[in-house]
Amino acid sequence: CGIVGYVGDKQAAPILLDGLKRLEYRGYDSAGIAIHNCCCTNLIKTEGKIKVLEEKLGGAYPEGHVGIGHTRWATHGRPSNVNAHPHTDCTGDFIVVHNGIIENYQELKEWLQSEGHVFKSETDTEVVPHMIEHFYDGDLFETMKKTISKLEGSFALGVISRREPGTIVAARKSSPLIAGLGEGENFIASDIPAILQHTRKVYILEDGEMVKITKDKVEVTDFEGNPVAKSIFEVKWDAVAAEKGGYPHFMLKEIHEQPKAFKDTMAGRILPEKGEIKLDDVHLSKEYLQGIKKIFIVACGTAYHAGMVGKYVIEKLTRVPVEVDIASEFRYRDPMIDKNTLVIIISQSGETADTLAALRESKKLGARVLAITNVVGSSVSREADDIIYTWAGPEIAVASTKAYSTQLIALDFIALYIARTLGRICEKDFQEITSAMKNLPDQAKIILGHEDKIKSLAQKFFDREDVFYIGRGLDYPLSLEGALKLKEISYIHAEAYAAGELKHGTLALIEEGVPVIAPVTQEHLFEKTLSNIKEVKAREGFVVALANEGNEEIKKSVDDVIYIPKTHPILTPILAVIPMQLLAYYAAVARGCDVDKPRNLAKSVTVE
Ligand code: G6P
Repeated sequence: CGIVGYVGDKQAAPILLDGLKRLEYRGYDSAGIAIHNCCCTNLIKTEGKIKVLEEKLGGAYPEGHVGIGHTRWATHGRPSNVNAHPHTDCTGDFIVVHNGIIENYQELKEWLQSEGHVFKSETDTEVVPHMIEHFYDGDLFETMKKTISKLEGSFALGVISRREPGTIVAARKSSPLIAGLGEGENFIASDIPAILQHTRKVYILEDGEMVKITKDKVEVTDFEGNPVAKSIFEVKWDAVAAEKGGYPHFMLKEIHEQPKAFKDTMAGRILPEKGEIKLDDVHLSKEYLQGIKKIFIVACGTAYHAGMVGKYVIEKLTRVPVEVDIASEFRYRDPMIDKNTLVIIISQSGETADTLAALRESKKLGARVLAITNVVGSSVSREADDIIYTWAGPEIAVASTKAYSTQLIALDFIALYIARTLGRICEKDFQEITSAMKNLPDQAKIILGHEDKIKSLAQKFFDREDVFYIGRGLDYPLSLEGALKLKEISYIHAEAYAAGELKHGTLALIEEGVPVIAPVTQEHLFEKTLSNIKEVKAREGFVVALANEGNEEIKKSVDDVIYIPKTHPILTPILAVIPMQLLAYYAAVARGCDVDKPRNLAKSVTVE
């Protein structure tokens, strides 16, 4: 979910609606705003996206200079008008927006009902305004302190009350929240893009902090009310960097931003003359690394696929065993980790609840945690011992593209850093890999230059029900990521297999015309994958190969080939994923899908 709040001299409604649109990547199954005007409050909410809310308002925005807004990703209670935020108590005096899950809401609800409170929604959130009403003693801030002390679970809360117009009280526990500092106006929000139009100065709230904002003042305290001295975080992003910039979708824009993102992620980190990788926020000493018995990589979704690539690369270069795990599984299976395990956490947003929980579990068990994240100031970045930021810029499309490929670069850096520190890579190999890395931005541009060819290939299979992806070695996680991209945005059923595994069952599904995408970028495995491709062709499947430039032989055995420029074998997934992204994108566009906001998904999943 995303929340935003405004207090100042301007009309609040347009500011809130604009802020909410920029937070839609956090969830968008319902939306609402509440605006104070003198002593009355206008609350408008609806199932659907912000666009639907705007239609409902029909251009007649409620007047008022204070308000809060919300865009929701349903957890407790299905998406509906009544479950949409903001929520209120029985009197309508206290209005609340919430991101997170109140775990003890059932118990609180029963207690409040026994006190005569009547509930309208199925949400966990609704207990909060009722509790505030119950405890209210003439001071909203003090009442919030009392209310919060009874809540279990996670929350970023924003509260207004017509009994204290001109004030917003907000609190954070395990869900992101910032306060934006303006001139004669102030803000709260889940994330920076929501308020970037208005200010570049923010306080990033920590867990256990709350804030009271009026138009002239922002006061941060802990949950006991003790003042906290915050330092101002100056946002360096360009405002247009968070906009679509001329592309029809954020996803296409973000695919095209990869050459720049690669450059940014590598900037200042390769020191060829010293034969070093320089990672400012990573402090793994030689003594520490010598004691490491195992590396664990833990993540969700696309970031998990990056982790699978990371396993191949790190094991190859460092000879340290690597295990990769899905964050939601890791934490509940009593993972075998201790102080001799390095845990690498990968998360674009740095806020994914499962991933954050895995990070905390790892630390509890004594492991050191190195995080790869795209969001400075995110929870993951603040709690990890060491950090590598993928300087990919904000990623808005739900389907991850530039964040994924830059995660791969970060993983290569980790592999090189460890291998170098432990003396497991020779100077020649180090130079070969790092100089190949420097060519990646230009090579990515070449691939983007073949966009039309990829688009026409997507036209050939966009109306199919099933697509298969097969690959060996590094082409296997690449296939998994290609299939996930297609599934999530085009809703075509797609499955990826290690190419050698197809014959053990899935080959039964191959018949005339079934599309099979087969990357063959790993030359030492080429002959092997070729045999698997022939197995598919023998069943009359339609095979599109993805090969390194110069591989003419593949043409004889497949229906079509997408070529990528040649790079070092361990770096190929960084380039090869680009055609996979474009294939998925154009298939989804051809099917008329809402590419940037696929159904049922959210960019940042901050619940377990
Ligand atoms: C969500 C998104 C995925 C993403 C995953 C992990 O499910 O839809 O695209 O890969 O979360 O996100 P993170 O921010 O932790 O990388």
